[in-house]
Amino acid sequence: MFSNKLIKRILHAYSLTFMTGAGISAESGVPTFRGKDGLWQNHDVQQLATPRALESEPELFWEFYRWRRQLLARVEPNLGHYALVDLENRYKGFTLITQNVDNLHIKAGNRHVLELHGNITRTYCSKCGKEFAEGEYDDTPAVPKCTQCGGVLRPGVVLFGESLPSAILAEAQQAAAESEVFFSVGTSSIVEPAASLPYIAKANGAYLVEINPEETPLSAHADEVIREKSGKILAAIVLALERIA
Ligand code: APR
Repeated sequence: MFSNKLIKRILHAYSLTFMTGAGISAESGVPTFRGKDGLWQNHDVQQLATPRALESEPELFWEFYRWRRQLLARVEPNLGHYALVDLENRYKGFTLITQNVDNLHIKAGNRHVLELHGNITRTYCSKCGKEFAEGEYDDTPAVPKCTQCGGVLRPGVVLFGESLPSAILAEAQQAAAESEVFFSVGTSSIVEPAASLPYIAKANGAYLVEINPEETPLSAHADEVIREKSGKILAAIVLALERIA
């Protein structure tokens, strides 16, 4: 499953970093991106989740995001998410970085999450940038509009082709560089700049662990590869730490 060496490393570490991808939410029933679910009503999601679609086909864009929001509102965190809450409570030097926009780490109870690709539950104006909490704007029109400037609203996610929030990326890069153990969990490790973070960690001396049932481009570079589902493994790591404590 995992080595004793890994448990010892975790026990003696101050700084632990976990970076998650769609795979950690798979056991909650959220479809991954590069699985068989990359289409929505015959539209290529990679074409739809773009600034261009928001501009040229805002009705379709919002129909897609409303569908995703409804789907995600119904799902619950799984054992993997809860194990990361436990680890945040145990370790001062814990950092959680996620590529997921599904809000499940926050829903599970993690307090500080570096959301590289944003969070689908948030909404802001594409023109003036004003942020809206749920219920603060009229969500009945096909394309919701800003109450302040009339601009088109958009979900708080990074669309394909957009850059990541620079302060969050910088914090993630710093955490990667400082981590003693770095876990890459449930990600295909191909989308930049997130895909580079494990290499930053390793170049700075971290013990690099991958948890993923499938091989990825990162696998050959990891110090330890755990080819199992993340829910089971993360829960087992917490249990192993509890037994020793
Ligand atoms: N436990 C761990 N890993 C799993 C599980 C599981 N139960 N189920 C699937 N996986 C793995 C798959 O083997 C795959 O490698 O999760 C990975 C999911 O990969 P992707 O679908 O490519 O998702 P991700 O890596 O998060 O995508 C990165 O790409 O489309 C963009 O912005 C989107 O954030 C996303 C980014």
